[in-house]
Amino acid sequence: MKAAIIYSSITGNTVTLAEAIELEMRQNKIDVDLIPINELDYQQLSCYDTIVIGTYTWGNGDIPPEMDELFFTIETRDFQNVTTGVFGTGDSFYPYFCGAVDLFRDMLYVHTNLAVTLKVELLPQSEDLAKVKTFCQRLVTPLVTV
Ligand SMILES: Cc1cc2nc3c(=O)[nH]c(=O)nc-3n(C[C@H](O)[C@H](O)[C@H](O)COP(=O)(O)O)c2cc1C
Repeated sequence: MKAAIIYSSITGNTVTLAEAIELEMRQNKIDVDLIPINELDYQQLSCYDTIVIGTYTWGNGDIPPEMDELFFTIETRDFQNVTTGVFGTGDSFYPYFCGAVDLFRDMLYVHTNLAVTLKVELLPQSEDLAKVKTFCQRLVTPLVTV
């Protein structure tokens, strides 16, 4: 299995979670690339059987602008056989907590084999990091729709 974690992070919360997920996947012997969105080569996306997306939330529950192209690419190209997960950090002070995770989740559910989602309040704490194990287990045993 070849996996990519593609993420966006401005103040460091989401990258902290991305690195924890990367570590857990490596410990599970998954071959994984950790890719900041600004370094993503869109031609390489088809090389991965598993794509994990990490995003903070912007504006009023919005996807950050730098993640729009990834969203559109997955929505419009054929990723039906790709297993996906989405995680993010947000601030529950805002009305749409981790709204970007919800927006990606709804799209990935339709266009890919969505396995798991995770939302974290700001900087991941030890109890959040415990959820990373479950997140990675779900990725390797995706839901099957019959
Ligand atoms: C202008 C602005 C708007 C935000 N809007 C939301 C929001 O609608 N929902 C939410 O959950 N968090 C929102 N946040 C909080 C960020 O998503 C949160 O701080 C996140 O952890 C930042 O991730 P990063 O450290 O990886 O950049 C907003 C933050 C800023 C500065």
